[in-house]
Amino acid sequence: MAFTIAIDGPAAAGKGTIGRAVAKHFGFAHLDTGLLYRATGRRMLEDTDPVEAARNLRASDLDAENLRSPEVAQAASRVAAIPEVREALVNFQRAFAARGGGAVLDGRDIGTVICPDAPVKLYVTASDEVRARRRHAELVAKGHDISLAEVAEDLRLRDARDSARATAPLKPAEDALTLDSSDMSIEQAIATAIAIVEKALPE
Ligand code: DC
Repeated sequence: MAFTIAIDGPAAAGKGTIGRAVAKHFGFAHLDTGLLYRATGRRMLEDTDPVEAARNLRASDLDAENLRSPEVAQAASRVAAIPEVREALVNFQRAFAARGGGAVLDGRDIGTVICPDAPVKLYVTASDEVRARRRHAELVAKGHDISLAEVAEDLRLRDARDSARATAPLKPAEDALTLDSSDMSIEQAIATAIAIVEKALPE
């Protein structure tokens, strides 16, 4: 059975954490689609043409070191505005979604462009401050030397660029349910998402 859960939302809203946990709970596969853009952005920083990089992306590129750095995140957001880059990544994402056994994809355009027919669409968000604090704590735990203000600026710039681009901008699908986790623990946010999916699953 192909059953797709589409999770979209701004940077550092907890999409990845929720997506992974939901996938684990239901035994579904999970794809963090941001990694595709991060891997492409990383290749651009190494002077590879981003369209070529996206067309030739390999699974091993998604394991590259430092894909989580703010520098790579900015590069990802820049290459993500190039229509040919997005086009090159569509088939892989749709094939992933169509695999048997269920799939969770998280990103910016999953419910709007990649899987518009997904039976569950979540738009996960949180206040700017909460998102910046959570991402800052994550980066510091990984050894990055970065201030809260720098993280907040990274998120602000990316959200502005990701929302304003002409192709597949960040926005909730019309039929998406919004999950605002500003005042929730991560456990509460995950439990809320699981309850939503539970209701939508076929008998
Ligand atoms: O989810 P993330 O923060 O790892 O994504 C990094 C960047 O990639 C994000 O700023 C915009 C881009 N992206 C996108 O345009 N579409 C997606 N489906 C996923 C990510």
